[in-house]
Amino acid sequence: MIEGSKILLVDDSPEVVELISDFLAPYNCEIYRASTGKQAIEVLSEKHVEIAILDVKLPDIDGIALLDTIRLQDPTVAVVMITGCHDPDLIIEAMKKGASDFLMKPFSIDKLLLGIMKVRKQRELLVEKNSILSDLEDKKKIELLNRQLQTKIAELTKMYHISDKFNSLNIFDDIYEKTILVVNEVLNSEVSGYYIVDHENQQLILYRSRPAHNGHASIEQNISLPAELMEEVKSGKRHFLRNEKAFLSLIIKGEWVGAIMMGGKTNGRVRKHPFSQNDMYFLRLIADKAAMQIENRMLYESLFESVLQTLTSLIIAINRRDMYTEGHCTRVAAMSLALADHLGAAEYEKDVVRVVAPIHDVGKIGIPDIILLKAGNLIDEEYKLMKSHSVYGEEIINRFDILGDEARITRHHHERFDGSGYPDRLAGEEIPYCSRLIALCDTYDAMMTDRPYRKALTREETLAEIKRCRGRQFDPDMADGFVEMMGGGSVGN
Ligand SMILES: [Fe+2]
Repeated sequence: MIEGSKILLVDDSPEVVELISDFLAPYNCEIYRASTGKQAIEVLSEKHVEIAILDVKLPDIDGIALLDTIRLQDPTVAVVMITGCHDPDLIIEAMKKGASDFLMKPFSIDKLLLGIMKVRKQRELLVEKNSILSDLEDKKKIELLNRQLQTKIAELTKMYHISDKFNSLNIFDDIYEKTILVVNEVLNSEVSGYYIVDHENQQLILYRSRPAHNGHASIEQNISLPAELMEEVKSGKRHFLRNEKAFLSLIIKGEWVGAIMMGGKTNGRVRKHPFSQNDMYFLRLIADKAAMQIENRMLYESLFESVLQTLTSLIIAINRRDMYTEGHCTRVAAMSLALADHLGAAEYEKDVVRVVAPIHDVGKIGIPDIILLKAGNLIDEEYKLMKSHSVYGEEIINRFDILGDEARITRHHHERFDGSGYPDRLAGEEIPYCSRLIALCDTYDAMMTDRPYRKALTREETLAEIKRCRGRQFDPDMADGFVEMMGGGSVGN
C-alpha cells in the first residue's frame, strides 16, 4: 500500500496537482508540491522524498534533466514520469536514466495508484538492498579495522616485552646474553648471536650465541667483512644479510662496536624467509636498547674505575704514613678473593670483595699519626679512637652513591661472629658475608706480620689460632674453608 508515503508532485498545471493531492489525501501521504523544476530541486534539498511524480514538460527545466538531478541527489527516490506526448524515444530515455514508471496522459486514478504502489515496492527493495550492502561494507570495514587493531596490539605487546626485558636488567646481568635471548624469544628466531667488531682485521668475531628450540642453523664464528661494508655501516647503513641471516650493527657514539644476528626465523614448525619489515623493525629496536645498555655499562664502569682510583689514592696516602698497611691491604685483597673462590661465593660477592678488600682500612686516614704509628700498646682512649676507622671508612665510601653495599661491608669488617666485635656488635649472619670473609683474612695477615709491639706468629700457630677461634671470632664454615685452603690439616676444635 501507499500509506504514509512522502511524495513530491511536480506539474505546471495546478489542477493536475490538486487532483492528485485530493486523491492521495485518504492515504495520509506527505505531499510536497512544485510547479517548476527549480521549486522541485528546492523541495528535494529540504525534505526527505520517497516518490517523485514528474511532468516531462516543465516551464523551466526539462523533466528528463530534472530526473538526472533527482537521481544524482538521492538514487533511492522512485520517479514516475507523466507525459501527454506519445514519444517512444522519450520513454526509453527516461527509463534508461532510472525512471521507475511512465504514465501517459490522460491516465486513470487507479492506474496512478497502481503505479505508486509498484514504485514504492521497488524503492523499498532498493533501500533494503542498499542497506544490506552497506551493512556488508561496514562489516568488512570492521573486520579490516579489527585485523589492523590486532596487528597493532601484537606489535605494541612485542615493543612492551622488549622494553620490559631491557628495563629490568641490572648492572650485573650479562647484557649480551640477555640481548640474544630477547631476539630468540620475541622474534621466534631459531638462532641469534652477538658479534664484536675487530676493526683491525675487518671482521666480526662471535661473542655470544644461542640456538633456540631444536635449532639447527649453523653459526659462523668469524666473518670477514669487505671494506665497503665497513664504510657503509659507518655512514649509517646498519643491516646486511648473509647466509639467510640478518645482521644489525650497534653504533655507540659513532663507533661500530658490534652486531646482533638473527637467523632461521621459525613460526611453530615452519621456517620463514626472508625477514619481514616488522622483523627488521623489532631487531633494530632490540639493537638500540642493547646499545643504550652497553653505553650505560661503559659509563658505569668508567665511573666505577674513577671512584676506585680515588679510594686507592687515599690508601696510598695512608701507606705513606704507615708502611704496614701497604703490604697488608694487598695481601688481604688477594687472600680474600682466593677464599671467596674457594668457598664458591657468588660473582656479585666476589666483585664486592675485589673492591672492598684493598680499601677496607681507608678510614685510617682519619686516625692521628700519634695513634696510628704508636709503637706500644694503645691506652683505652686511643684504642677507642683507632676502632672508629671502620665507621670513618664507611662514611668515606658512602660518599659514592654506587658503593652502598661496599660502605656497609667496610663498616663491619671488625665484627666478630660471637657478637663481641665493633662497631655494632653484630653476630653470626647479621654480619655481611663479605665482612666476615675479609675479617678472617685481615686477622690472619695481622697475626703473620711483625709489629713493633709483638713478633709475627708462625703459619702453624696462626692456623691453630684460627681453628681455636672458629665460631667465636670467625664464621666457623669460613674458618674451616680457610684452613683447608691454606693446607692447614683437619678442621674444627
Ligand atoms: Fe681494619
